[in-house]
Amino acid sequence: MPKTFFITTPIYYPSAKPHVGHLYTNICCDVLARWYRLKGLKVHFSTGTDEHGIKIQRAAIANNKTPKEFVDRMVDFFKELCILYDISYDDFIRTTEERHKKAVYALFKKIKAEGDIYKSTYEGLYCVDCETYYLDKDLVDGLCPFHGKPPVPMKEESYFFKMSKYQKRLIEHIRHSPDFILPASKKKEILNRLSDPLKDLSITRSTFDWGIPYPDDREHVFYVWLDALTNYLTTVGYPAGKYKKFWPADIHVIGNDIFWHHTVIWGSLLMSAKVKLPKSVFVHGFIKANNDLKMSKSLGNVIDPFELIKHYPADSIRYFFVREVPFGFDGSFSEEALIQRHNTELANDLGNLLNRTIVMINSYLDGNLPKKTKDEISKHLDFRKIDAFMEKRELHNALNEIWKFINFANKYINDKEPWNVKDRKELEAILYNLAESLRFIAVLLKPFMPQASKEVASQLGIKDFDKQDFSHLKFGLLKGKVSKPRILFKKIELKVDKPETGGFKMENFVDFGDWKKLDIRVGTIKKAEPHPNADKLVVLHVDIGEAKERQLVAGLRQYYKPEELVGKRVVIFANLNPVNLRGVDSNGMILAAVNNKDVVLLTTDKPINNGARIE
Ligand code: MSP
Repeated sequence: MPKTFFITTPIYYPSAKPHVGHLYTNICCDVLARWYRLKGLKVHFSTGTDEHGIKIQRAAIANNKTPKEFVDRMVDFFKELCILYDISYDDFIRTTEERHKKAVYALFKKIKAEGDIYKSTYEGLYCVDCETYYLDKDLVDGLCPFHGKPPVPMKEESYFFKMSKYQKRLIEHIRHSPDFILPASKKKEILNRLSDPLKDLSITRSTFDWGIPYPDDREHVFYVWLDALTNYLTTVGYPAGKYKKFWPADIHVIGNDIFWHHTVIWGSLLMSAKVKLPKSVFVHGFIKANNDLKMSKSLGNVIDPFELIKHYPADSIRYFFVREVPFGFDGSFSEEALIQRHNTELANDLGNLLNRTIVMINSYLDGNLPKKTKDEISKHLDFRKIDAFMEKRELHNALNEIWKFINFANKYINDKEPWNVKDRKELEAILYNLAESLRFIAVLLKPFMPQASKEVASQLGIKDFDKQDFSHLKFGLLKGKVSKPRILFKKIELKVDKPETGGFKMENFVDFGDWKKLDIRVGTIKKAEPHPNADKLVVLHVDIGEAKERQLVAGLRQYYKPEELVGKRVVIFANLNPVNLRGVDSNGMILAAVNNKDVVLLTTDKPINNGARIE
């Protein structure tokens, strides 16, 4: 029997269209679900909508609809979002479904049989948007900490769950199950809150009727949290179905605002019903708009994922969120940062690696992949390390590690200089190693960028890519013929006109990350000869601290005689894509200051060894 992995997103309120925060949770869960499928586990990945409650009822009225008509229409946006962004859920659960009512009743029956339900009156300060009562101390300047609105005093008859009875057991559980609350920093926060006496929980309402009817008293409906949280059991068919196989859930992924509900409320309800607690509740950060402002309708900075996808590939957006925002921390979204990563990491690092490899296999080997050769790459890929990051839920670090391998492969091209290799066997080995590293990369990137990884595989001519998982990260499986090269990610121009700052344009600036990508080094010119086919060019051999001198072609003939150049200590841009200039290969560029007609080579003001980097 394969091991199982059960992962959930929260179920979203369909009172409005989904925003980028919902998308973010979906993407992170999808990446994890796909990762575990590739590890050979049987995965159940659930998402859905939380369709009951006063907020939905009000939104329906405002839209001239019955609540059911309203949610039926809104749910399509949430499903559409999943299609647009390749969210591979196994089940989409709606709390208005009959199967959900059954699960809620089954759970409630157990809790009631335990003697944990009683009737009383509830009084308190209630935030309608959160559908939660707040204690004075939890308010910020008297306002709801999440919505900034004044809560209203409410008093109503209600059925209660004896949550207080479980306080001690909850504290014990949180203390002794290190993975129950993740990241670990969140554990203290909850334990702190649990140092105050825990109150019983009101679980029904009689002030509105859009909810699951309370079985013993038709004046009441279940209050949203008991209803909503039970979705995690419904999706696995509680108390029968897949429940035995998949419960307890491996991970509930949620935002900070519903952290208490998922640990304390959910934990105690499950304890009462004698159902195991989820193995972990992972609290991710909030996505803020540019400049770290909280997204809000009034600020007009809500990012609409349906708009975003019109301008950027789904994979770039998925990649951006996972790489940019360390999982468990807040992060901000800006189009500039998205474009930056798209252009440098996707179009350049990954796209160029693919393009250079496919072009060379086409031009040197007629597109045919050679038979398995010696393996020069596997030892540079640390799968265990990547997987360990995924297990620790450090998704951003896993991507970072995969990128180290991509950069290794790019450097492998530069170091091996296939364009200079005369020996056929050696050339075949280099190109085969490159193609295999791209196959590894495609498999590893499946969870993060499902479409791009498929495209890489298709250019490599892999037929059974759908079947390839992590057990295929073995050297030598690739065979057949590659396709013609196609661009993987088109670069996107960054157009940010900000007239209020005097027409400042972002493209005039690079960030530190870009600068760090440049490999600029000191070298000494060892040999300089006129170019055989061009009068303005000179062919240089420069020692830049590598085993072999670099050959490069420079347009310096009008300014320097070849013999003047020999012995000069110059500055070389060493990781530029190789080119062939009129029949001579050039692997780098020499830096010079240019002013009208003057061209003056850059040099260092004190002697320094060849290969010293310009920092
Ligand atoms: N319906 C409840 C959850 C019930 S789960 C049993 C709910 N729905 S929600 O639609 O308001 O929010 C769903 C999730 O989106 C929450 O985890 C919330 O933290 C998250 N986010 C809302 N805004 C967000 C960002 N700006 N960034 C990241 N996540 C955010 O609460």
